[in-house]
Amino acid sequence: MTRLAVIGAGSMGAQIAQQSALGGVDVVLHDQSAEQLRSARDSNRGHLMRRVEKGKLGAAEAEKALAGVRETTDLSEAVQGAHFVIEAVFEDLELKRSVFAELDRAAPPDAVLASNSSTMGISKIADVTSRPERCVNMHFFFPVLVMDLVEVVRGPQTSNETVERTMSLAREIGRSPVLINKEIDGFIVNRILHSATQEAYRLLDAGVASFEDIDLAVEKGLNWPMGPFRLGDFTGLDVTYNARLHMYRTTGEQRFRPSPQLEAKVKAGKLGRKTGEGWYRY
Ligand SMILES: NC(=O)c1ccc[n+]([C@@H]2O[C@H](COP(=O)([O-])OP(=O)(O)OC[C@H]3O[C@@H](n4cnc5c(N)ncnc54)[C@H](O)[C@@H]3O)[C@@H](O)[C@H]2O)c1
Repeated sequence: MTRLAVIGAGSMGAQIAQQSALGGVDVVLHDQSAEQLRSARDSNRGHLMRRVEKGKLGAAEAEKALAGVRETTDLSEAVQGAHFVIEAVFEDLELKRSVFAELDRAAPPDAVLASNSSTMGISKIADVTSRPERCVNMHFFFPVLVMDLVEVVRGPQTSNETVERTMSLAREIGRSPVLINKEIDGFIVNRILHSATQEAYRLLDAGVASFEDIDLAVEKGLNWPMGPFRLGDFTGLDVTYNARLHMYRTTGEQRFRPSPQLEAKVKAGKLGRKTGEGWYRY
């Protein structure tokens, strides 16, 4: 039986752990904060119980999957005997590097160390370990219990065996992996999403159409479940803005420059659903 440790019990880590337990993997979830582990457990219970109510999951199966995620605030205990570790702590390079250094010391030498980072290629992190060939990016999508895709990104030193083990873990937990052979900013999905949404912002800034009509055009004409502005409100406009700013600063390319209207929303604290107003009111 595959033994997995998930490090960080935030919005991603909690559901990565739960999805893995649903796939029959033996999981230990670790966070520094006991409170965070408790709220991860409560939130996972809520998600699975809603599935039970809808008749999509048996009650016994749900209880088994919930019990399948063990919790600990002790990192060494979490990775004991692990075949695979997925790190999902805050998106902060120095923090991830220090967590990887600790994982390298505590986890079995043949365990794969994967990062769920959305922006940091594994080569920026793996050099603090003695096993860069066993380090890889494994990028899940929010919410993990719903979103099927996993982007597996090979770093310059990642071995073929590590890539295969990562692809096969993704499949084992019921997810569809895609392999990205080069470390590239934004991987596949965010690159395509950014290009399309940047174009939507250009149309808005040029006064070509209202944001409502651009959303409607994309929803009805391209069959996206949400247009770029509705999606921005859902994700958080600060997240959308910071992603653009990051791309603009790292590449210096004008095409990544954040839209002035997006910047104005963020400066006004209108960040989307979470603040009650973004492009739309909630
Ligand atoms: N939220 C998303 O939509 C999304 C999507 C894909 C990838 N990601 C990536 O996943 C990672 C986590 O994102 P999130 O949204 O779950 O963050 P989050 O803020 O919800 O959770 C981060 C968790 O890490 C814990 N943590 C911090 N330092 C730690 C340490 N040293 N040891 C153990 N635990 C520690 C925190 O207590 C917190 O529970 C980030 O790298 C992010 O880029 C996020």
